[in-house]
Amino acid sequence: MTMLLNIEEIDVRYGRNHAVKDVSLNIADGEIVTVLGANGAGKSSLLKAIQGTVKSTNGSIIFKGENINRWSAPKRVQSGLVMVPEGRQIFISMTVEENLLMGAYSRKNVDVTNEIETIFERFPNLKERRNMSAAVLSGGEQQMLAISRALLARPTVIMLDEPSLGLSPILVKQLFELIKEINSEGLSILLVEQNTHMALQYADRGYVLELGNIVASGTPADLLADEKLAKAYLGGD
Ligand SMILES: Nc1ncnc2c1ncn2[C@@H]1O[C@H](COP(=O)(O)OP(=O)(O)O)[C@@H](O)[C@H]1O
Ligand SMILES: [Mg+2]
Repeated sequence: MTMLLNIEEIDVRYGRNHAVKDVSLNIADGEIVTVLGANGAGKSSLLKAIQGTVKSTNGSIIFKGENINRWSAPKRVQSGLVMVPEGRQIFISMTVEENLLMGAYSRKNVDVTNEIETIFERFPNLKERRNMSAAVLSGGEQQMLAISRALLARPTVIMLDEPSLGLSPILVKQLFELIKEINSEGLSILLVEQNTHMALQYADRGYVLELGNIVASGTPADLLADEKLAKAYLGGD
């Protein structure tokens, strides 16, 4: 297996708060890997460190065989490492279509008309509202828009920070089906979730983060077989 992304022993600190401690994880080409953990475990900090929007103080981040530690966030995006942040963060002062165009910003002068039409075919709700403010979208539609916008950056790895947060069960199911679909189209996925049941249903492998430390990792079956773990983090009983 080719490792697409290798995170080796990275740390994130906010002053005296040591949010990510010596964390190592990897993603092979074509994998869906999930990072699970309670609120405050350090999941978002880990993703931001990988994207380069917060600084990792130790260790290394190897993407496609290259050490990208010193790369800016935009350069990481350009190289194919793209995060969809928690809370979607779409631009509500822009239209749906303008939001999509922003996703292609890193690609400089590429005509994305066809790609946008393909997205509109996949999401008729977005198409109908293409010229409306993104503020009119429901939570589920906003999440689809945020993911679509990330896809327009042409990622190799897409990192999703709690995409199912606040969505109804039907939309959560649709979201995970979309994740599976884009994965089958060749994207590797790093998925941070608190919906552990769904995440383990769709992921190839998972890691459990507790107070900044990786406390377990393995296949969904491995993780679910650990009774203590299942009880503490995976909502088992
Ligand atoms: N910008 C920040 N400044 C200071 N502390 C932060 C900041 N962001 C997160 N933290 C702290 O880092 C820890 C991990 O937070 P976070 O990565 O958001 O966890 P999670 O995404 O798992 O909920 C928490 O203790 C949180 O309070
Ligand atoms: Mg978070």
